[in-house]
Parts: sequence; C-alpha cells; structure tokens
Amino acid sequence: MSDVIAHKKHLLSDKVEHFTESVIREMTRQALLHDAVNLAQGFPDFPAPAEIKKAAQDAIAADVNQYAITWGAKNLRTAIARQMQTWQGVAVDPEKQVTVCCGSTEAMISTLLAVCNAADEVVIFEPYYENYGPDSILSGARPGFVKLRPPDSAKGEWTFDERELRAAFDRHTKAIIVNTPNNPTGKVFTRSELELIRDLCVEFDVLAITDEIYEHILYDGTKHISMVALPGMEERTITINGMSKTYSVTGWRVGWTIAPPSIADAIRKVHDFLTVGAPAPLQEAGAAALSLPTQYYAALAEGYRHRRDRLIPALEEAGFQCFQPRGAYYVMTDIRAFGFRDDIAFTKYLVSEIGVAAVPGSSFYRDRKDGTQQVRFAFCKRDETLDQAARRLAKLRKS
Ligand SMILES: Cc1ncc(COP(=O)(O)O)c(C=O)c1O
Repeated sequence: MSDVIAHKKHLLSDKVEHFTESVIREMTRQALLHDAVNLAQGFPDFPAPAEIKKAAQDAIAADVNQYAITWGAKNLRTAIARQMQTWQGVAVDPEKQVTVCCGSTEAMISTLLAVCNAADEVVIFEPYYENYGPDSILSGARPGFVKLRPPDSAKGEWTFDERELRAAFDRHTKAIIVNTPNNPTGKVFTRSELELIRDLCVEFDVLAITDEIYEHILYDGTKHISMVALPGMEERTITINGMSKTYSVTGWRVGWTIAPPSIADAIRKVHDFLTVGAPAPLQEAGAAALSLPTQYYAALAEGYRHRRDRLIPALEEAGFQCFQPRGAYYVMTDIRAFGFRDDIAFTKYLVSEIGVAAVPGSSFYRDRKDGTQQVRFAFCKRDETLDQAARRLAKLRKS
C-alpha cells in the first residue's frame, strides 16, 4: 500500500515520534538474519517446567477459554498474595490489591497511566530497562534520570550518588521506578539503598514503583528485598512482577501489580480498558506455578549461577571487561579493549562477523553517548548455546 499522499494534518502522535524502535527486539531480528547465537533478548531457550505446561493444557481442556475476571483469576491472585507473605512477610489482600495484567510490561504502563498527570516527573535509574522511558512519556510524565555508576573492579557493585538522587526529587516528582534485581546491570539494591530511597519518597510524598521480575534470580548469597516490606512504604509502593522470568515463560504474558487498594482500583480501570484481561488458561497455570515447592526457586537460581559462571570466563577470555551481576540474567561489559568507535559498530560486527548477538549499551541510556563503550549479554540459555557463543567469541581475540 502506498503511503506517499501529502496529508493536511499531522497524523501521528507527538509522543510516538520520540520513540525509537526497541533495540533489543531489533537485535533478535539481526540474530535471525545472520544465524547468530542470540544473547541479546532475555528469553530462555530451554523448556518451562513440565508441571506448569501441564496445568495450562489442563485449563484449556477444561474450557477455561473465556475472559477471566478483569483484574485476574481468583486462584492466581490468591497465590500472588500468598507468595508475598511467604517471601517478604507482607500481607496482601488479593481482592483489593492485586491486578493481573498482560505481562509486567502492561503492569508498568497501566500503573503509570493510573498515577501520572501531565507535568509529573518519574525518576529512573540509568542504565535502565528500555521500556521505562517510553512508558513515562505515554503516561504524560517526564522521565528524570539518576546514574548508576559501574564498579571500579570486576567484583565491585554498581552504586548511585545520594546527592544526585536527592537532586532528582522535587514537588513535581510523582514516582520513582526501582528495578531490583536490575536489568541490565545485575545490581541488587541493598537494604540501606532502599531505605535511602524510602526516606526521599516519604519526604517528597512520592510513589515507588518497583519492578521485581528477577526476584528469584540471585547469586553470591544476595537477598532480594521488596520495597513494600520497608516500614513506611506500604501505602506508597506498587510492586510489579510476573511469570516470564521466574517460570521461563516470557511468551505467556502474565504479570501483575500489588498496590494499596485506592491505587489498585485506578490500575484496574486502566487495565480493563487497555486489555480487558490476561490469558485465562495461563492464569490458572500461573496459580500452579506459584504453588511450586521452594526448592524450585533454589534450583532456578543455581541454574543461572552456573550459566553466569560459564559465560563470563568466555567473555573475559575474548577481551571483555565484565561487571559481575549479583542478580538477573545479564552481564554488562566494557568493550574499550576492542578499539571500536562505538557500541553500535561493535554489535553490528559481533552479529555479522562473529555470529553472536548482544545489545548495544547505549540503548540503556537517555544520552546514548553514555553507553557507547558498553554491551549487554543475556545468559538465560542452554549450556550448548553458551558454549557455541564462547567458541565464536574466541574468534574476537584472533581478529
Ligand atoms: C526489568 C524488566 N522488566 C520487565 C520485563 C518484561 O517482562 P514481561 O515479560 O513480564 O512483560 C523485562 C524483560 O526483559 C525486564 O527485563
């Protein structure tokens, strides 16, 4: 179809004009084009647990095929509330506080649309998961950024400057997004860091929107602390989570928010008009997934520790400086040793000549200059996939 007529009006939304296409999903297309090993997008290439696939099949066979309750099947909401009590000691009312959405992606945008007005500001730590910027803009808010600084040594931690964080808060600040364990850095926010954020939220009357989708993927004895569990945060925290990462089902599109009842009420309205509801049979499978024994979570974390420790030596051998992740399933690297102009040129070379797809670091920063010497690899892959990537990456040394 031709698209060349001269329209009298500007037919596209100004908001969308600020967006670039998702770099991560573009890298997946490049990986297919070049038959490269895809260490770009964060989806597992191994099977999901048999029990939960069976629960999904059973639900379809039992004709759970029509709309679920808009804010989520009761079974799943009850399981979500139970898990919050078990892992974080936080009491949640599944009838008033939980909204099941189409992935945590929809949970985030529904939350921002429910709480933001024009001229509000949303504070985001950067580097950040690329959806947060466009999400803020779609909700009418202005994103403000606070830097996470890379560690000086391989085993060090990403940190932020307390004064810089304070300076990002003012009377226009509506919310701060905290993603812990963090994509792309692998940072797990400590209790004292969360307390510092909590104190600012209370002082400036700001909401905390926490993306905790990697809560069970933790290494080196690190513990995940939910912001909502901190004294003073119950009334001002919206916790976002989902099935994608914990149960290796990124394509199922089941996520949720847990919020104080009045905010949950607003989120439910937005969610209803945006999507009506998440897939009904997969919500039933979600209830089964959230009832897996605690050993499941220990095995999940151990599996990822094994993968992390398989990929990082191969990257280091090939010449990357790796920042050791404490959680989530990505490793951020410094590519200075390769002498490329920037991360885009480097990742293009990597995908087309070496046969490995990774994500250019600049896609995680507002000012793309900041990430030009960084590249992110995902290690949510089978050993064979990681080993194939390692063999290909070894060619970098030679070239
Ligand atoms: C930090 C973070 N939040 C949310 C998502 C998307 O989650 P979902 O599949 O539940 O929409 C991702 C996916 O990579 C992520 O890294």
